[in-house]
Amino acid sequence: MFPEVRLRRLRENKILRESIAENSLSINDLILPLFIHEEVGTHEIKSMPSHYRLDIESMLKDVERLMLGGVKKFILFGIPKSKDPTASGADDSKGIVQLAISALKKRFGNEIYVLADLCFCEYTSHGHCGILEKSHVLNDPTLEMSQRLALSYAQAGVDMIAPSGMMDGIVHSLRTALDNNGYSSIPIMGYSAKYSSAFYGPFRDAADSAPESGDRKGYQMNPANRLEAIREVDLDVLEGVDILMVKPALSYLDIIRDIKNKYDLPLACYNVSGEYSIIKAGAERGWIDEQAVALESLLSMKRAGADLILSYWARDFVSWGITK
Ligand code: PBG
Repeated sequence: MFPEVRLRRLRENKILRESIAENSLSINDLILPLFIHEEVGTHEIKSMPSHYRLDIESMLKDVERLMLGGVKKFILFGIPKSKDPTASGADDSKGIVQLAISALKKRFGNEIYVLADLCFCEYTSHGHCGILEKSHVLNDPTLEMSQRLALSYAQAGVDMIAPSGMMDGIVHSLRTALDNNGYSSIPIMGYSAKYSSAFYGPFRDAADSAPESGDRKGYQMNPANRLEAIREVDLDVLEGVDILMVKPALSYLDIIRDIKNKYDLPLACYNVSGEYSIIKAGAERGWIDEQAVALESLLSMKRAGADLILSYWARDFVSWGITK
């Protein structure tokens, strides 16, 4: 009790304060999303400052620079030239993501870790995450397509696959397809609890993946729900998922903590585009200190229980000179 107990004693000195910090942040915690397109050259993404749609050549240069700055893990999103209702181009062995994976692995080998997001919204003309019948996304036919897509990523040399379409049974389907084709060592990171969120706005601009009509509420989770996240994770675990994920991150820190308390698997969270761009916009106006706010928000995800963070800020770590 006061006056003997004074918590401020341990806060006064910077060295002591830092050495008893309960959580810390490192560039190793981060996975950087990259947008690769089939056009030639780079294209600025207006709603996500510092991020570009890259062609393969510019991606290799960009990644080389980022790797020198300490970024080792990347997750790829492809923006194809042509789209159709059934995403028929997605699993092409010469598709943009497949080419990007093989170019990165050829150039950087085991110095780099390449994840591929697996979803169809960038490949369908209607912008939904699977095969559409009227306004309903068909689950099981989308699973079959996902298996083919996963195998094409595996053949290109991907290190990990992350299915983001929120189809029921996706982890089981991909695990079976990979195992039956000699890829049993490729891990799956489930977008286990992915909410239907307005914070994805800038990403859909970046990836040209907004649904033409309707929304994703029929397959992504309702932001009102907490217990349902546990059911989603339970199923992913039963289906053999390797890494769990919660998405988005900042408005869902409670979910991250719930999952961390209950499961022993590694846990990732996706610090999504909207969470990034609002800080960038606030800083551009001079209203907040960009670096301090970004680092505080990332640290809150670690504190909530995330082991890994998919984050656009990995790029800024390099410009801020944070190499550890
Ligand atoms: C594809 C996908 C989305 C994001 C990652 N994968 C968009 C969506 O579900 O509409 C969003 C990422 C971000 O906002 O940074 N399904």
